[in-house]
Amino acid sequence: MRIKAMLAALAVLAGLGAAGGVQAQAPIVIKFSHVVAPDAPKGLAAERFRVLAEQLTHGRVKVEVYPNSQLYKDKEELEALQLGAVQMLAPSLAKFAPLGLKEFEAFDLPYIFPTKSALYAVTEGPIGKRLLQKLESKGITGLAYWDNGFKVMSANRPLHRPDDFHGLRMRIQGSKVLDAQMRALGAVPQVLAFSEVYPALQAHVVDGTENPPSNMLTQRMNEVQKYVTVSNHGYLGYAVIVNKKFWDGLPRDIRDELEQAMREATAYEKTIAQRDNDAALEAIRKTGKTKVYTLTPQEQADWRRALLPVQKQMEARIGKDLIDAINQTTSRTTAPMTAKAW
Ligand code: LMR
Repeated sequence: MRIKAMLAALAVLAGLGAAGGVQAQAPIVIKFSHVVAPDAPKGLAAERFRVLAEQLTHGRVKVEVYPNSQLYKDKEELEALQLGAVQMLAPSLAKFAPLGLKEFEAFDLPYIFPTKSALYAVTEGPIGKRLLQKLESKGITGLAYWDNGFKVMSANRPLHRPDDFHGLRMRIQGSKVLDAQMRALGAVPQVLAFSEVYPALQAHVVDGTENPPSNMLTQRMNEVQKYVTVSNHGYLGYAVIVNKKFWDGLPRDIRDELEQAMREATAYEKTIAQRDNDAALEAIRKTGKTKVYTLTPQEQADWRRALLPVQKQMEARIGKDLIDAINQTTSRTTAPMTAKAW
């Protein structure tokens, strides 16, 4: 009991300033940088995390959210995190290869996830956990996966058949899988930072792009694209990551409170992602300026025939074992999640 009393006294003294008055300690600041709009699913989830983190830590942590590439753009943000210039990011899973983690591009493979529940079986199971563990060797701790949605295609010509892509300059994220995807359609892939997509479409530097509808609407891409095709040919999601040295250096109780805030923000984000994408697609349709077209079953089959070979083509880059493990998991999405060989 005496030790407890002594520790309590020391804690009080630690809180006293040199002048002997009680000095409130400056909060620990988490800079959370991301590239989407505040009202996109990831933007809303970042704000929810901010509120929860400050509440659960009773103000001992302050989260500063910097949306829309205000602080760092695509290429800069991972390096800034590793340098400790920013503490938290939530990059698209298509953007981890520069860390030497090409496996993350498995999430970009066309048609690798038949449904959202199939995706969750991967991200919330042993495969997702194993991928996040790979970040540790890069000085990064992976906290969670955040959802967005299946992608649609857009351009200034109708995109019904694979042949319609011939010669189109299509903006992609910096993923070799997406490069191969666009080339399989006969398009010319062009990597651009997310913040550069709208101006590049507006100036006709590129002809079209792909993204979930929520990103298209919140970046106003639909205002400079006459046609959107609901193809759901691939998925876009995120990993929420922190600087490992910063995270490991946090007091245990604060880390526990932040992990709780992250769990609640992740659950919130999962409930809004599909709703917001459905609403965004309807909003684009309602503008009357962009024609929204849904592929027929025959057209879907033609796209699959053109794009499924990308999975085989990327085995050497991503790893056949990982691709096989994902396909086995998604094909049994109702089965209990079992530890995979991969
Ligand atoms: C993109 O660059 O298209 C996306 O990764 C942006 C995002 O973070 O959703």
